[in-house]
Amino acid sequence: MITSKNNSPIAFFDSGVGGLTVLNKVKKILPNENFVYYGDTLHMPYGEKTKEQLLEYSDNIFKLFEEMNCKAIVMACNTTSSVIYEEVKDKYSFKLFPIVQSVSEILSQLPINRLGIFATRATIESGAYQREIAKYNKNMQVFGQHCPDWVHIVEKNSLSDPQSIKTVREDLEKMMLNNPEKIVLGCTHYPFLLDILTQFAPREMFIDPAESFAQKIKSDLDKDGLLKTEVERYERFFVSSNPQMFQQSAEMFYEVKETPELLTFLNAV
Ligand code: DGL
Repeated sequence: MITSKNNSPIAFFDSGVGGLTVLNKVKKILPNENFVYYGDTLHMPYGEKTKEQLLEYSDNIFKLFEEMNCKAIVMACNTTSSVIYEEVKDKYSFKLFPIVQSVSEILSQLPINRLGIFATRATIESGAYQREIAKYNKNMQVFGQHCPDWVHIVEKNSLSDPQSIKTVREDLEKMMLNNPEKIVLGCTHYPFLLDILTQFAPREMFIDPAESFAQKIKSDLDKDGLLKTEVERYERFFVSSNPQMFQQSAEMFYEVKETPELLTFLNAV
């Protein structure tokens, strides 16, 4: 049955450009959909924020998406999925897709015993990846590692800076001490760093969970009869600070055609 929701946009949010790695994959397999994206650049990095702060920021963003009549909200942020998803999942009327919970079953089925996870401090401290993967596979050993500088390297677009390359290499060397068979890029900003990572380890070592996440979003929307039917399409981008910087940093991964709209919330601090 076609409802008024079918042609409503799919909404994405993250602390900055990171969620574009997810939007990119979703757009490839759902090219006709309408998309809205909110980059909460004012509050970046989410990985260093408390649960209370993340609840407050996301509540504002969810209300905005609700006003826009979005048919689904993609938590394209490992940090919010890890820290606040359980608390907010029954609070709103829209369909919510959290990245960590959506990809853990697939990760648990990898034919390996030792899995590394690179993620933000908040994601690692929450233990969410370990917990979710253990629901399906108790034998997989999961090694989490926080990479404090990576989000800033991406947001500042300083990928060719020798200091950035050194930082990424050293973090990778530290992870390698655990002997992982694969490493998950458990923060949406990290796939931007693949060009650096693959200078020091083979591409097959790294998993960008956005790939299987996008498939899950598509199949769930399809199952619920929510895919779009109209031909015309649009994309809208919003940020809470510095729209030009967002557009520049996004460039290497996604073509944000127009400068994002600046939209802050009155209670945002
Ligand atoms: N990109 C987000 C994530 O996937 C948050 C990064 C941050 O702002 O710390 O966790």
